[in-house]
Amino acid sequence: MFDPLESLSQADLPAVWERLAQIAEAQGELNIRAQFDRDPERISRFTREAVGLKLDFSRHAITPESWTALIDLASTAEVPQAVTQMLSGAAINHTEGRKVLHCALRGGTNKSLEESVLVAEVRERLAALVNSVLRGERTGFSGEAFTDVVNIGIGGSDLGPAMVSEALTPYHQHLKVHFVSNVDPSHMVNTLAQLNPATTLFIIASKTFTTLETLANAKAAQGWLQAAAGSEQSLSDHFVAVSSNVAKAEEFGVDVDSIYPMWDWVGGRYSLWSAIGLPIAIAVGWENFNQLCEGAGAMDEHFASAPLSDNLPVILSLLEIWSVNMLGAQSHAVLPYDQNLCQLPAFLQQLTMESNGKQVDRSGKPLGRASCPVVWGAAGTNGQHSFHQLLHQGTQPVPADFIVPMQSHNPLADQHTHLVTNCMAQARALLFGKSLQQAAQELSDAGYSDEAVQALAPHKVLPGNRPSLTISYDKTSPYRLGALIALYEHKVFVSSVIWGLNAFDQWGVELGKQIGVEIYNEIEKRRSGIPGDAAFDPSTEALLNQLLASEQI
Ligand code: F6P
Repeated sequence: MFDPLESLSQADLPAVWERLAQIAEAQGELNIRAQFDRDPERISRFTREAVGLKLDFSRHAITPESWTALIDLASTAEVPQAVTQMLSGAAINHTEGRKVLHCALRGGTNKSLEESVLVAEVRERLAALVNSVLRGERTGFSGEAFTDVVNIGIGGSDLGPAMVSEALTPYHQHLKVHFVSNVDPSHMVNTLAQLNPATTLFIIASKTFTTLETLANAKAAQGWLQAAAGSEQSLSDHFVAVSSNVAKAEEFGVDVDSIYPMWDWVGGRYSLWSAIGLPIAIAVGWENFNQLCEGAGAMDEHFASAPLSDNLPVILSLLEIWSVNMLGAQSHAVLPYDQNLCQLPAFLQQLTMESNGKQVDRSGKPLGRASCPVVWGAAGTNGQHSFHQLLHQGTQPVPADFIVPMQSHNPLADQHTHLVTNCMAQARALLFGKSLQQAAQELSDAGYSDEAVQALAPHKVLPGNRPSLTISYDKTSPYRLGALIALYEHKVFVSSVIWGLNAFDQWGVELGKQIGVEIYNEIEKRRSGIPGDAAFDPSTEALLNQLLASEQI
């Protein structure tokens, strides 16, 4: 198994890790607030801007000393060399023998790649499809224009397109897009209940075209349409497929002209820029989809050329490494203060955790240190009324990313001001907290007895000193969103290079799929009275029997 990143000479890395550990130990629990008093330059020292995204990381538990050592870590890990390898098309997904070229889908920093030609061809076909659907030229079996599009896909064939489509709601044209991912029949049934078969277009999105959930839902869609249209009608205009497995898509019954290829050098969770982004393009129009790709392309340029200390993805990664490996953080909150970005945490969960949730290094040896944190979050201000309690008073510090546009697409009284104010307030509360003395003072000012003050005050203490960063920008436009997503994609890559793991495979998801098939086959046998030949663990057996028994009722 050839690994192009083996050529990185990371021999000095252990020494840099060691130095970081020493700095972290000497620093203990850094008083972040005090750093602002000590260093009047702290804001400018720890703020950077690129592609219209302003990153303020002055509220993280870093000092000029630890920051210099972290930059040294990125440099010693040869991050720039790894970036060059990725962008030039080296097969850095070595466990699958694949290149990693999602950047080529959005212009690419390396225009001479042979893959760019394929991208251009498919984009031309996609643009034509999008325009014909939007103009009502491609129609369904009744001759009426499509009003609704249902994307059937899961994981990377769902999360990115669904997140972006919602994020760009202000740019929507006249078609409504829907997303069905779960094999739970309720997802499909609930979606179809709102739709007219004659005017519904389905996109079957599956890189492999073997994914159980997607194939089951695509079959259900076929059945639903056929029942409405009658068996004599051709449904071919109602189906489009996006896949790297064109043969399987054809076998399923999709017209070859309606199959839009993707390639093995695009990972599912990095694929929204490919034909997988079709529902986005139909939702917002081709020009806006282009803008999204261009924003990502601009971030690619920045990533490829900015010095490490100014490089936004590198900075995000180093803060993650510092938080996880030196401060022991086990999770990471993503808090977009933009309702339209409410699906961003779910998207970043797959992007980050499926990429870097690994335990062995590129040569298969145990990593020997923690890797990816659990990523979670929700749109502000909703999260404030649920889990922010833990952020403020829980026993584990959770670094948080606040993401906030300065302008709203929907000026409504002063609500956007309230939104941004809340974002600022949460970051400030995390940092400053409330001391025992302040809590006691507040209680006695409110007229509580001394006894009540003593009893209640500890419950009102917020330790503060909890790290966060802010990514602020003008407005959630297609271009800005493209840059934001690419920022996180590259952050994930940088962390993987420093941890020494492969961010582009996902072997961990396979076992569950295999066991699922074994259990399903066993259930089918037992249902038809054939004595089962598989014996599962008692807990699985109990559930399996419960399922079979429920069918007798
Ligand atoms: O099971 C995980 C996974 O392989 C993801 O990596 C991928 O995004 C998703 O399933 C869907 O795969 P496909 O696009 O091949 O249907």
